[in-house]
Amino acid sequence: MTAPTDPTTTAAWGELTALRADFTPDLRGWFDTDPTRVERLTRTVGDLHVDLSKNLVTDEVLAALVRLAEQTGVSERYAAMLAGEHINTTEDRAVLHTALRRPAGATPSLAVDGQDVDTDVHEVLDAVAAFATRVRDGEWLGVTGKRVETVVNIGIGGSDLGPVMVYEALKPYAQAGLSARFVSNIDPTDLAQSVADLDPETTLFIVASKTFTTLETLTNARLARDWLWENLAASGAIGADDDSRTSAVAHHFVAVSTALDKVEAFGIDPANAFGFWDWVGGRYSVDSAIGLSLAITLGPDAFRELLAGFHTVDEHVRSTPLEHNVPVLMGLLNVWYTNFLGAQTHAVLPYAQQLHRFAAYLQQLTMESNGKSVRWDGTPVTTDTGEVFWGEPGTNGQHAFYQLIHQGTRLIPADFIAVANPAYPLTDDGRDVHGLFLANFLAQTKALAFGKTAAEVEAEGTTGALVAARTFSGNKPTTSIFAPALTPAVLGQLVGLYEHITFTQGVIWGINSFDQWGVELGKQLALQIAPAIEGDDDALASQDASTRALIAYYREHRG
Ligand code: F6P
Repeated sequence: MTAPTDPTTTAAWGELTALRADFTPDLRGWFDTDPTRVERLTRTVGDLHVDLSKNLVTDEVLAALVRLAEQTGVSERYAAMLAGEHINTTEDRAVLHTALRRPAGATPSLAVDGQDVDTDVHEVLDAVAAFATRVRDGEWLGVTGKRVETVVNIGIGGSDLGPVMVYEALKPYAQAGLSARFVSNIDPTDLAQSVADLDPETTLFIVASKTFTTLETLTNARLARDWLWENLAASGAIGADDDSRTSAVAHHFVAVSTALDKVEAFGIDPANAFGFWDWVGGRYSVDSAIGLSLAITLGPDAFRELLAGFHTVDEHVRSTPLEHNVPVLMGLLNVWYTNFLGAQTHAVLPYAQQLHRFAAYLQQLTMESNGKSVRWDGTPVTTDTGEVFWGEPGTNGQHAFYQLIHQGTRLIPADFIAVANPAYPLTDDGRDVHGLFLANFLAQTKALAFGKTAAEVEAEGTTGALVAARTFSGNKPTTSIFAPALTPAVLGQLVGLYEHITFTQGVIWGINSFDQWGVELGKQLALQIAPAIEGDDDALASQDASTRALIAYYREHRG
């Protein structure tokens, strides 16, 4: 494995540092004097129309950023990933989520570590599709012979955020009479509230866990199993004997995991388990069997369309020169903002209510991937890394936190995402509500870019101290992403876009974007602290003073 290039030692970094020294953002001026700016800075990838023109860049900056990508080996690293090299160095694994969306029969075929990946992927995909069809057609029945009405996905992190985000985004595609719920948190409220109004006879649980060791997921799976047994027995649907219980689990539990032995140990029939592979990272796994809840509710065809959307972006990244490569350019802009203009966060603001879980999904994708301080060879990073991603759908955010983006002191680059055709084309007194909605998207990106000068404020009759309060500086960078409609293919393209943006940034910073050691310490400590909470005084004594005091508070107040 080649050592990462220190980006700060490249000629391009020197150029960018010099450009930064003289840099005065002037979106008004740039738009006024350059009639081709929008055309030159608008790109397409698949169905996505990506307008980069309202970013704080000149052609010179962009060219230097592209040279930075060249000099840090972005293309080479991408080729290494696609070829199945073990670029996840700390776990000694290939990184092949892109293989999950290669079409059947793609050539040349992909073999990794002696394994025919294409065949493996399509075998599982076909099994997922066949199972989904059985559930959808009412061939798969619960223990009392009733068809499934609700699928409950139990998983956390990548085994939850992708499925729930996609389900919410594509709900209009869900089969009538079939819906999904998602339980993730070990806070028992989550499971309790999610199943409270469900009929156990028509509920199918999917236990989704790559490792099948995750405390939250296994705890929730056991709680769900108890709920199933108790409620089926209470109505007389099954007896309390072991055979009845085994049969209930066989009809109401399936699993998705890379650890099929552990699935079996949990009591789920291996025939009802769907596998994937260690070369799929949790946060990159929505297009593996982890998407089973989606294949069931939205249908195998919609699921395959989603995968095709991802593949469109994979192909774009593979075959497009860096200067036209949309995810690479967007990743480079993020590097510009983070490392040269001092941005610490990045807002993602979908003007599509269906994407209301998109920012949450991206938080894991981007922050678990690039929230690192060491590079892939174990040496310290040489720059700031990993922005804080956050966001909410417009227009809600406008009435909450946009004030800070418009007039606060921090630079917050923002991505606006919208579709031309809504899922629900409602009218209000003859007016297209979606048009009104999108007028807000356009108004916000315009206000952020061009602001409002003091002279413009005064021209409206404002005087005194109010002038400054009503002035908008502008030069707040945004990217506008537009698509015809939120179809499965478009959603796949959107997620693929951000996967590759994340990858580009990771390569430039020299990071292994595919491990997540930072989540381990808290997991270990929780296992040590749990006995102390439960009354083990030795475990309590070994805690620090603050933790001891908090446990004491808990013990005192717990009813
Ligand atoms: O703890 C973090 C993490 O490992 C994520 O990377 C992963 O998506 C999540 O936990 C769930 O893991 P699993 O799918 O193995 O239950």
